[in-house]
Amino acid sequence: MFSALLLFVLFSCSNANFIVEEECLNYTVYPIQYELTIIPYIYKDNSYYHGDITITVIANANVREIELDAKDLDIRSGSIKVLDGSTDLVNGARPYEYDKTNGKLFIHLREPLKMYSQNNRQFYYIKMSFNKYIKEDSAGLFLVNYYEDDVKNAKSLYATRLSPNKAKFMFPCFDNPRFEAVFKFKVYILSDHPGMQYTNSSLVIAEEMKRVSSKDYTIIEYIPSPQVALHQVGFHYSQFTNKSVKGKNNDTLVIWAPGDKLYCYDYIQRFGISMIDLMHQYEGTKRPITAGSINLVAVPTNLQGYEIGSWNLLTNGANRIANLVYITSIQQIEVMRFELAQQLCRIWLGNPGEENRTRWKEEWLKEGMATYYASYFLAQKTSERYPKRLQPLGIYGLSMKHKAMEIDWPRSTPALEVFNDTLAIEIPARYKDLVTMKTGTLFWMLENWIGPEKFHNALIKYINSRRGKYISLQDFLTTLDHETVECSYQLFNGSTSSRILRSWFSQAGYPVINVRVLRDRTPNVVQLNQRRFSFTNEHHRELEYLIPISYTIQNSKNCFNCYRPRFVIGSQPYTFIENLDGGWIILNSNGSGYYRVNYDSDSWLLIAKTLVEDHQSIEEMTRSQIVNDVFALYVSGNLDMSIAMRVLAYLDKETSLAVWDSVISGYELLKLEGAACNMTKYIYWEWSDFMKQKIPTIYNDLIKNLDQQTDVRLLRNKVITFAAELEYEQCLTQLRRMYQETRRDPKRILDPDARRGCYYVLLNDTNSHLRFKKLSGIEEEDRNAVENRIRENNRFLIKIPHGEPRPLPIISSESPLSSTTPEPVPDKIVMPDASTSNLSSIIFVVASTLILRLF
Ligand SMILES: *[C@@H]1O[C@H](CO)[C@@H](O)[C@H](O)[C@H]1NC(C)=O
Ligand SMILES: *[C@@H]1O[C@H](CO)[C@@H](O)[C@H](O)[C@H]1NC(C)=O
Ligand SMILES: *[C@@H]1O[C@H](CO)[C@@H](O)[C@H](O)[C@H]1NC(C)=O
Ligand SMILES: *[C@@H]1O[C@H](CO)[C@@H](O)[C@H](O)[C@H]1NC(C)=O
Ligand SMILES: *[C@@H]1O[C@H](CO)[C@@H](O)[C@H](O)[C@H]1NC(C)=O
Ligand SMILES: *[C@@H]1O[C@H](CO)[C@@H](O)[C@H](O)[C@H]1NC(C)=O
Ligand SMILES: *[C@@H]1O[C@H](CO)[C@@H](O)[C@H](O)[C@H]1NC(C)=O
Ligand SMILES: *[C@@H]1O[C@H](CO)[C@@H](O)[C@H](O)[C@H]1NC(C)=O
Ligand SMILES: *[C@@H]1O[C@H](CO)[C@@H](O)[C@H](O)[C@H]1NC(C)=O
Ligand SMILES: *[C@@H]1O[C@H](CO)[C@@H](O)[C@H](O)[C@H]1NC(C)=O
Ligand SMILES: *[C@@H]1O[C@H](CO)[C@@H](O)[C@H](O)[C@H]1NC(C)=O
Repeated sequence: MFSALLLFVLFSCSNANFIVEEECLNYTVYPIQYELTIIPYIYKDNSYYHGDITITVIANANVREIELDAKDLDIRSGSIKVLDGSTDLVNGARPYEYDKTNGKLFIHLREPLKMYSQNNRQFYYIKMSFNKYIKEDSAGLFLVNYYEDDVKNAKSLYATRLSPNKAKFMFPCFDNPRFEAVFKFKVYILSDHPGMQYTNSSLVIAEEMKRVSSKDYTIIEYIPSPQVALHQVGFHYSQFTNKSVKGKNNDTLVIWAPGDKLYCYDYIQRFGISMIDLMHQYEGTKRPITAGSINLVAVPTNLQGYEIGSWNLLTNGANRIANLVYITSIQQIEVMRFELAQQLCRIWLGNPGEENRTRWKEEWLKEGMATYYASYFLAQKTSERYPKRLQPLGIYGLSMKHKAMEIDWPRSTPALEVFNDTLAIEIPARYKDLVTMKTGTLFWMLENWIGPEKFHNALIKYINSRRGKYISLQDFLTTLDHETVECSYQLFNGSTSSRILRSWFSQAGYPVINVRVLRDRTPNVVQLNQRRFSFTNEHHRELEYLIPISYTIQNSKNCFNCYRPRFVIGSQPYTFIENLDGGWIILNSNGSGYYRVNYDSDSWLLIAKTLVEDHQSIEEMTRSQIVNDVFALYVSGNLDMSIAMRVLAYLDKETSLAVWDSVISGYELLKLEGAACNMTKYIYWEWSDFMKQKIPTIYNDLIKNLDQQTDVRLLRNKVITFAAELEYEQCLTQLRRMYQETRRDPKRILDPDARRGCYYVLLNDTNSHLRFKKLSGIEEEDRNAVENRIRENNRFLIKIPHGEPRPLPIISSESPLSSTTPEPVPDKIVMPDASTSNLSSIIFVVASTLILRLF
């Protein structure tokens, strides 16, 4: 077994298949295996472990010095040995130097190491002992203090976050993220004795092999792990209990938490296992997604999501995976669902624990595909009633797209391909959303373009055929073309899937398509041209995206091509003939294209008219796309404020979650600094007044609506928070009163979905007691989020100039819609009196025992 592993290492290096060659050559000593024995002690004021490590290495050059990485470790002098068989090679006179500042350990040898070769299978064993002192704020491996049962029963545990390069804080190692080695763990469980916390649960990245008990301790020995990189290692040591659930194909998801809190994680556990089952249903095979069980640990501290590289020891903040009725808001549930779905998709697409490992050359592609699939599976899950039919991504697709578009426009933004050689853990935090969300959105665009069935058939066939092998971008695109070739001739006008995708992978940003309809000709002529989109006036190098176009038109009775309106445009302006019969044309149907569309004013006004008269006649996703584009185009200085407001005027009738979500994220864009719309305080107030007129209908509907379905809850949550941020008076009064009621009467609990709104109101008061109040982890997350937003809003408002009130818009006499009343005109909406309206829907009355400080 050992030589088999070794062969692989050499193979991967010498063939330089996936590892950059010089990366291999630069290192003179390679680790093959780490054997780590950990004896942990948890005392009240002093927690540490004693470690013994044996690293099996081979040499690639005749060096006389070994350089290891070790940070914040107390290495026991005299314990360091480099063994060749039973001979110790360490230079007795000058054994080692430990540069604590730089975290480097240099071991000096008496004689040079012999190079490893096929004929001379020379292994060396580096051995040493060390102590690691652990505090709450230690890097890499840290102590977490928490309370079990109640505030008296203080407990501690060890947890790790070794990504991207913190393994050296846990044990001495060769800190190169591309080196993979086998890890053999041995962990001691010490018997209960006074002063020390008895701690019996230990988790590492491998399954338990055996236990040997004696009077003073139990030794747990783990089976050798698969070959993993250092950042994939993890260690958890606590007094937690576990609960395990099995899926249809024997996938096992085990939750780890303090015994009295286990029930908080039932939801996420059920959700996780049903996601895994969905994946199997999708791929149509019966293999478990990884060998052994997946442990999900609820760490009672502030951890921001999962570690990308983890596959069987997933850790996350307890508040991010607990679902408690009356405390967890629907938005928090959505986040926890997405995070776990995305992580499970990463595991599903390739992880070290698979029977035969799938390796991805371009990790950004894997990240993007995991994100796409997370959205896809979530969309399927939401509509479980129709498991047979493919469900469109809908709001999940939109949310990916909006996140990507928000960051993918400044000149400095890199193209996705720039990350070709970057490991997923090394993608800078500011580009994580770019890589995951943009790639996911592009797959969504392609899906809608070639059709979901064809797309998924091609994709799953590819993924299944590459199980246990290598996946690269090149290979993926070639195969995709092959699978979709038939439609490429029909639809792409010679542009294959790969050509289209490549044009988006290799170029940063996204375009805006300008649509001009020549209405004086019969039939009408439509001109399209593309330009790179930017919110500022900075000049961009023009890029050429291959844009799949689909359109719908208002009056399709006499249309030429509107039943198969599909083509691809490039950098050249494109002109086509269509019979619009005096109606509008809308591009980017269903909103899945990664671009924005700007129309001529006549077309915009026609769209506005239809929206006001019968908004349902335009498909929901298309409306979402339009409203978001309108905000973005206004902010980027491409659309007049009065036209923008006319298109949005119908919003008081809008009840769709997808559309309101797009409005809310569009409204955020107004706060973009340095945007070409030259924002001033006056204009901002005007916008805010405008929205305040649009929100009452939906707000009042929702606040009366007792429906607890996910969609309704999500919409209520978003609308209440938005109304609070807009400072919609009625909402502020109600939220304030609601909060006062919950303070007076401990049996009343704030609706978690209204909590952010409430916090917005309360935290805005400079001396709010809420700032200092002790909250549960779940509530605190909301408080922090709201505090940040208030700070950012204030910063934005301080920065922009005061400006002047805008002159009243002059209504052009040529405008086809001049007869309709222009915005803004306050709507006459009957406001229910805040003091009498029944708030029962928004305050839950529950037994006070439920209101525990849970985290
Ligand atoms: C390898 O070593 C060379 C010269 O010492 C250095 O320029 C290069 O950056 C190193 N490459 C890596 C991947 O460390
Ligand atoms: C560890 O000990 C605690 C308390 O003694 C117990 O509740 C728990 O079940 C134990 N966990 C395991 C994995 O044995
Ligand atoms: C889960 O806890 C039980 C005791 O409650 C223990 O026997 C079992 O070994 C634990 N499972 C694992 C994987 O440690
Ligand atoms: C699951 O495991 C059980 C026992 O370990 C085995 O009998 C069964 O065949 C397995 N099922 C699948 C689908 O692998
Ligand atoms: C994994 O690879 C081995 C050897 O190549 C093969 O025998 C086995 O069938 C593979 N397993 C799966 C699930 O593909
Ligand atoms: C990234 O990889 C693709 C496919 O192998 C290749 O066509 C492209 O040129 C690479 N881009 C960069 C910036 O290295
Ligand atoms: C389709 O291909 C033809 C010939 O290659 C070209 O003239 C035309 O402009 C293309 N249409 C689009 C929409 O690119
Ligand atoms: C838009 O979505 C609807 C339903 O989700 C679907 O029937 C229709 O085909 C989609 N239209 C386009 C152009 O993708
Ligand atoms: C914003 O200000 C710049 C410079 O004063 C001006 O050129 C531009 O037209 C203004 N944009 C808008 C939308 O008013
Ligand atoms: C927040 O505070 C500012 C200034 O103190 C005030 O103008 C604004 O109305 C307050 N907003 C809310 C929601 O109370
Ligand atoms: C008002 O709330 C009470 C419970 O507090 C409920 O019984 C009643 O039906 C509610 N009335 C309306 C109009 O919703």
